[in-house]
Amino acid sequence: MPQPTVSVTPEQVEFFRREGYLAVGGLSTPAELARTAAVYDRLFEERRGWEEGNAFDLAGTDDDAAAALPQILGPSRYAPELRDTLYWANAHQIARQLLGPECQMGGDHAILKPATHGAATPWHQDEAYWNPALDYHSLSVWVPLQDAPIANGCLWFIPRTHTLPVLPHHTVNHDPRIHALEVDPSPQFEALLAQAVACPLTAGAATFHYSRTFHYAGPNHTGGVRRAHILGFSTPATPRTDGRRFPWNETKQTAREARRREFEAAQRAAAAAEELA
Ligand code: NI
Repeated sequence: MPQPTVSVTPEQVEFFRREGYLAVGGLSTPAELARTAAVYDRLFEERRGWEEGNAFDLAGTDDDAAAALPQILGPSRYAPELRDTLYWANAHQIARQLLGPECQMGGDHAILKPATHGAATPWHQDEAYWNPALDYHSLSVWVPLQDAPIANGCLWFIPRTHTLPVLPHHTVNHDPRIHALEVDPSPQFEALLAQAVACPLTAGAATFHYSRTFHYAGPNHTGGVRRAHILGFSTPATPRTDGRRFPWNETKQTAREARRREFEAAQRAAAAAEELA
C-alpha cells in the first residue's frame, strides 16, 4: 500500500468547507495512471459486474448495444489492485483532513465517457441516490485517469450548494428504467445554475465535493475516452427522525435491479442445493 504524499493546507480545508468543492493536484503519477487505465479498460471491456447489476448504462435503459454512459459500481471488488494506488492513499489522507480523522472509505465507482458520444451526467446531488432515512457527512473524490478539460466532460460545481437540503430530483427523461437522476427544474435552481463553475483538471489531479454539492459533467466531444474513478469517504451515517423521503427512487425499475435480484436468487438457490448435498 503506497504511503500518501499529498495533504491540503488549512486554506484549502477552509475553501472546501465554505465552497463545497476543492481541486487538488498531484495525487497520482503518469505511470500509475497509465497502469490504472489499462485495468479500467479491461473491466469495461469484460463488462465486469453485469450479471449482478453492478455494471450498467447510467444514462440509458441497458437495451442498447452501446451504452451512452457505462458505469461500474465497486470496480475495486473486481480489480483489488485499484486499492493499492497512490491516488487512493492520497484521497483518503485528504478526506481525513476535510471530514475528520474518523472518516472511512465508502464505495467506489467508475464512469466512462466513450469518445465523441459519451453523454452528459445531469446536474444532481449525490445524496439524492442514497437512503433518505440516514444523515450523511460524506464526500466524493473524482479522479480522472487522463487530462479532464471541459471538452471531454470534466466536473462542474455550483459553489456553496452543499448547505442546501436535497432538492427534488427525477430519473432522466422521467424514465423509471434509467438509473441517472437529474434535479427538477425550478426558478431556485435556474438562479443557482448561473453560478456554476467548471473544474478542468490535468492528469493526476482530482476534485473533492460534499454529498449535497450540485455537480454535472458535460458530454465527451473529444476523440479520446474519458475515464474517471470516483471514491467515496464518510463518517458513520446517523438515523434521521424527520421521515425524509426520496420518491424518485421509490418508483425506479431499472434492468440493473432486475439483474441483481435474479443474481441473488440464483446464489440463494445454489447455497440451498449445496446444503442438501
Ligand atoms: Ni455525482
